[in-house]
This record gives sequence, C-alpha cells and structure tokens, in this order.
Amino acid sequence: MYLFVHEDREHLLEPGERFESDLGILEVPDEVSPGDVVETHLGNAFTVRRLRGPDLFTHLDRTGAPMMPRDVGLVVGKTGVAAGDRVLDAGTGTGILSAYMGRMGADVVSYEIDPDFAEVARNNMEIAGVADRVEIRTGDVTDALDELSGFDVVTLDTEDAPAVVERTPTLLSRGGSLAVYSPFVENTREVVAAAREVGLDDIETLDTIQREMDFDDRGSRPSTGGVGHTGYLTFARRP
Ligand SMILES: C[S@@+](CC[C@H](N)C(=O)[O-])C[C@H]1O[C@@H](n2cnc3c(N)ncnc32)[C@H](O)[C@@H]1O
Repeated sequence: MYLFVHEDREHLLEPGERFESDLGILEVPDEVSPGDVVETHLGNAFTVRRLRGPDLFTHLDRTGAPMMPRDVGLVVGKTGVAAGDRVLDAGTGTGILSAYMGRMGADVVSYEIDPDFAEVARNNMEIAGVADRVEIRTGDVTDALDELSGFDVVTLDTEDAPAVVERTPTLLSRGGSLAVYSPFVENTREVVAAAREVGLDDIETLDTIQREMDFDDRGSRPSTGGVGHTGYLTFARRP
C-alpha cells in the first residue's frame, strides 16, 4: 500500500487499484515507487508516498482509540524499546502503538479482547508491513498472564491495567520497562499503587502537554486549536 497525495488530500491505495473521486479516475499502476506521479483521467496529479508511522495514525482503520504519535514518542523514549526486544502489548485497539514498535524491529505480542477489533488490527498490521513482527492474539490479557513471561517491555492501554501491573515481576525480564497509558487520573493512581506494591523501580507518571506553533503574518504563537489532554503515561522498571 502507498499513499497517493494531491495537495491536502491523501488516499491509501494498492497497486492495480482503481480509485474514483471528483478529481477523476485514478488507475494505480501495478508497479509504483515513492515519488512517482500518477494522473487521473482528468489530469489531476497524485504523488506516490510510502507509509510511515504518522501516516498509519491517519489512515489505518480505527477501532479502540489509537495512541497519538506524541504519546508513542514518549513510550519509545522512556522504555527504550528497540529492535530485537520482546514486547507484550494490551489492548491492541487500532494497533498504532504495536505497529510503531513493530516498525522499529521489536517482536510484539498484542492482546485484543474484542474479536472484531482484533481482525481489523491484523489487517492494519498487514498495511503497516509488520504482520510478521506483530502477533495479534484475540482474548483478555488478564486470562493469559500465567503463560506469559520474560518480556523486555510491557505496554498497557486498558482499564484493567493495574491487574496486569501486579504481574510484572514475572511478565518483565530483569531491567525491563513498563509503560501504561491511562486517560483518567483515578486509573493512573491504581497503576502507580500496583507498581509500588510489586516493588518496581523508577516509577514516574507524566501528563504530556504539547502545543503546536502557528506562524503567520500577524505573528507567532502557540496554536489556539488542536488536542489538549490525551492521557497520563506511567513508566517503571523491574529491578
Ligand atoms: C484505547 S484502545 C488501545 C489503543 C492502542 N494502544 C493503539 O495505539 O491503537 C484499548 C483496547 O483495549 C481493549 N481491551 C480492553 N481490556 C482488554 C483486556 N483485558 N485484554 C485485551 N484487550 C483489552 C479494548 O477492546 C480496546 O480495543
């Protein structure tokens, strides 16, 4: 799959696909490369662009609320997730975090409790080109904890995350990292309490605030629009 970009419009299309819009009919050739320009029958030009992480956030089919790239960045920076790492992720949702980590070369096992969501996420991993690195398992992660151990990184984005955090002494390998995304502070407190209870080190919760800058003829200032609060991110490590 590639993105076909015309001014501020982008479409995710497969080689050989026929796409119709008010800009005309676009017959996507069987062989395309990034940078190629393909015209519709009305002469409107689309530039071919390969997919990268932020494109996945914009274009993958959405189910569970996807993690925003700014929060993914913090997860990557704070856990140090890297190529070759074994990662346990739950819940998969849209699979944005899983896809980013798979694209970095980590081997990810991700649990999704909703079978329909899991199916969409598997297709999303195909589009992201990481189906060989990201295994989506259908099921409740809390039911599978007895058979899981020794991960370099555990990433959680579920309401019942505290129950999983309680099991991190076996889920994580020594020195391994935990990252938990929680939209509400109440759930975050429970996550922190569970992390303390099982003796994790370096427990830290961050509220990510990011402001885009606007530059125009009148002056420069932080944007007055955009997304404000997303969630709280709690990090910790197994001693
Ligand atoms: C907010 S979404 C996760 C989004 C994901 N981090 C991403 O970047 O796309 C939460 C997902 O967790 C799933 N879920 C909730 N509890 C679960 C559990 N105990 N085991 C597995 N999946 C669970 C939900 O069905 C939902 O799809």
